[in-house]
Amino acid sequence: MEKENAIQKKVIFSGIQPSGQLTIGNYLGALKNWVKLQDEYECFYCIVDMHAITVKQEPKELRQRTLEVLAIYIAAGIDPEKNTLFIQSHVPQHAEGAWLLNCNTYMGELSRMTQFKDKSQRYGQNINVGLFDYPVLMASDILIYQADLVPVGHDQKQHLELTRDIAERFNSAYSPTFKVPDPYIAKVGAKIMDLQEPTKKMSKSSDNPNSYILMMDPPEVIRKKISRAVTDSIGVVNYTDDQPGIKNLIDILSTIKGTTSEEVVKTYEGIGYAQFKKDVGEAIVEELAPVQDKVKELVADKKYLESVYKAGAEKASYIANKTVRKMKKKIGFIQQ
Ligand code: TRP
Repeated sequence: MEKENAIQKKVIFSGIQPSGQLTIGNYLGALKNWVKLQDEYECFYCIVDMHAITVKQEPKELRQRTLEVLAIYIAAGIDPEKNTLFIQSHVPQHAEGAWLLNCNTYMGELSRMTQFKDKSQRYGQNINVGLFDYPVLMASDILIYQADLVPVGHDQKQHLELTRDIAERFNSAYSPTFKVPDPYIAKVGAKIMDLQEPTKKMSKSSDNPNSYILMMDPPEVIRKKISRAVTDSIGVVNYTDDQPGIKNLIDILSTIKGTTSEEVVKTYEGIGYAQFKKDVGEAIVEELAPVQDKVKELVADKKYLESVYKAGAEKASYIANKTVRKMKKKIGFIQQ
């Protein structure tokens, strides 16, 4: 047993909500990094549909988007044979674990979550209990797989901190049950910003479509959105916080090309924004074209997608069940 543990890979868990179409922010900031982790780690990549319904979703669209996100995972290079790809609602232990963790989480902690505060302003008509409880479901996602590492963006750090607090609290109230997960900070991979307000993170939930580029945007739309991206009047391609729009475009280009920001700056010495933007647009079009083709192909093959998410759920629930059984036993529930 000990020997087995010694050679076991570290576990990674991450997820994306199927609550809107994915952007190049998801792709360049998350998915491309996930691909790099698949050989070194045991990865669980989930489509968190139960998180998505904390905000109103049209059932037909939710169904379509869930499959599309799965197709995008695969098209981006996440190999279903090497990783566990699955849909959150197919593994009921997520909800079960969340309930058990709920009883070990305080109202005060959840009230302090900035995402909850932001979303309750945004969705004032629908501040449902799920929206409040969102971080506990996320903690359950992570803890039931005994994840070592969680790749998340800056906006999810607070949720991960809370996950660690809940895990430590449970471990000391009962006995060691959970691994206390660490955030995984990617060495490369940029945080892609909003094209219209480049000091904000690019988000699929923005009201202005010009502020993001969707994974499935056609080439002419991509070119147009990049040409309209907000820049500045300085006129020099420089990598500085004083030029957040240009900085963001440099990040996009260097992430796609696998180069450094300095190299991009050098390449564009003495060259104007128009040409620079044109090149950025072209680079995105070229990068996305094969992925888009693959997504279309996969979405048309429902049988294949079904085989992937079914096998994924089976593998995931086997692992998740072990932890949830442990939790129940420690809490004092009678074992079945
Ligand atoms: N809350 C995350 C986001 O919006 C999505 C998510 C749900 C997640 N459960 C997770 C991310 C577990 C990492 C681990 O980005």
